[in-house]
Amino acid sequence: MADRILVAYATRYGSTAEVAEAIGDELRKAGVAVDVRPVNEVRDLSPYRAVVIGSPIYVGKWLPESQVFIERHQQHLRTIPVAYFAVGLTVADGGAEILRKAEASMDQVRMLVNPVEIGIFPGRLESGGLSFADRTVIKLIRAKTGDFRNWEAVRAWAQAVRSKLVPA
Ligand SMILES: Cc1cc2nc3c(=O)[nH]c(=O)nc-3n(C[C@H](O)[C@H](O)[C@H](O)COP(=O)(O)O)c2cc1C
Repeated sequence: MADRILVAYATRYGSTAEVAEAIGDELRKAGVAVDVRPVNEVRDLSPYRAVVIGSPIYVGKWLPESQVFIERHQQHLRTIPVAYFAVGLTVADGGAEILRKAEASMDQVRMLVNPVEIGIFPGRLESGGLSFADRTVIKLIRAKTGDFRNWEAVRAWAQAVRSKLVPA
């Protein structure tokens, strides 16, 4: 029986995985079993009554693996409640144009499967540990480094989305 919730995510440096875990913890408070897994490790959606899917934003886009996951499972996903979240650094600065760009990172996946809710959260960017290519991009766009994640905002979103995923 489909009685679980899946929180599936892509990540390059781990910060989105931690956001996904926080969402999972909050959803568990509804008394529902929740699995938090990287998109690449999920094959079968049949155990799930609802799915939350997230990705960090890289140069304006979701990571390909989250998009591919939705493409691959789109037929199934259209039959259950689905929510999307994006994690991006520019979001930390606020501003309508910045938020619009972060939302645009979800345009493609929203066309495939219409979500019941979307969330956009500030992420974390540490210059140490980045690949050479990523370090170069970061220098070019002069991105601010730091951990801008707002756990209260993540938990509040998960609480709000819970009733849409698991109607009382
Ligand atoms: C090369 C590179 C490009 C990025 N491009 C964007 C971007 O276009 N918009 C944005 O909001 N954040 C951008 N970010 C910030 C990441 O989305 C942020 O660091 C996120 O928390 C990374 O998630 P991860 O640790 O799960 O990989 C970029 C980061 C890097 C390293």
